[in-house]
Amino acid sequence: MKDKLIALQEEALQAIKQATRVKDLQDTKVKYLGKKGPMTEVLRGMGKLSAEERPVIGQVANEVRSAIQIAIDEKQESLQAEEMQRKLEQETLDVTLPGMPQQVGHPHPLTLVIEEIEDFFLSMGYTIAEGPEVESDYYNFEALNMPPDHPARDTQDSFYITEEFLLRTQTSPVQPRSMEKQNGKGPLKIICPGKVYRRDTDDATHSHQFMQIEGMVIDRGIQMSDLKGTLERFAKEMFGEERDIRLRPSYFPFTEPSVEVDISCSICQGEGCSVCKKTGWIEILGAGMVHPNVLKMAGFDPEEYSGFAFGMGPDRVAMLRYGIEDIRHFYTNDIRFIQQFNR
Ligand code: PHE
Repeated sequence: MKDKLIALQEEALQAIKQATRVKDLQDTKVKYLGKKGPMTEVLRGMGKLSAEERPVIGQVANEVRSAIQIAIDEKQESLQAEEMQRKLEQETLDVTLPGMPQQVGHPHPLTLVIEEIEDFFLSMGYTIAEGPEVESDYYNFEALNMPPDHPARDTQDSFYITEEFLLRTQTSPVQPRSMEKQNGKGPLKIICPGKVYRRDTDDATHSHQFMQIEGMVIDRGIQMSDLKGTLERFAKEMFGEERDIRLRPSYFPFTEPSVEVDISCSICQGEGCSVCKKTGWIEILGAGMVHPNVLKMAGFDPEEYSGFAFGMGPDRVAMLRYGIEDIRHFYTNDIRFIQQFNR
């Protein structure tokens, strides 16, 4: 029986040696060590052995078994290494081949302008505030000194969702929202870029959805001259040092006094052209000193604090900056339009 086991071992080791694939090894293992294999058969026959023979044969059987197992494991390792080596040799990588051209995206012109405006105000110590696009009647109108019968609430201009909620018509509701968080204490210096919505019929200069950037500064002793200086610096940074600004009296319910701000036309240098409608000036924003009622409703004491606010249209700024003649280009997603812009 011992000889038979030794012969089996020889045979198995030979088969393992000759194996060329991992699969061959698995077959060999099943053949020699499997349930229906010769080893199992030998072990089954052990019952017939004498008490002295049994432990001797048992030990031999175990040795044969583990010799086969070890040989399989070793061979498997070397076969796998060989396979890996073959793969590495076949799958060479030619790093000198030309690369595949990748399509790179382009930034939207509005994004470019908004980021530039943000950078300017961040450098002046402002922070960026946010507010919801679905806004309550209270923040969009009432807290901005527009009581329920105010004509600006006309459904002709606003997209109402319910009696109480609408798509914000301006970014100005971020003014009372930001002030309320201050618990009546200044200073507050924010800008808020965002989308706004109006029931306008779309044409070259109107869109039912467009962008605004709101700005607000609240502190002790803020004056109209602070507003003027800030906007002058802004106009020069954005459109060039030769630009001037002009303030015209205007009206907004939430600022008093209110102004509309023009910059000298960068296209004709103030001579008069079609873009500035022969006036030499282009309107870029509305602004004013925060109305005492607005301060009060948001928890600030108008005797102690004052502030200015402004709202500008980045669509307008981008149209001027890039010579875009139709606002609808911004929102109709024609890839050929976007592809013209780069950082
Ligand atoms: N919200 C005003 C508008 O949409 C602009 C504005 C903002 C005016 C802040 C004054 C102060 O026309």
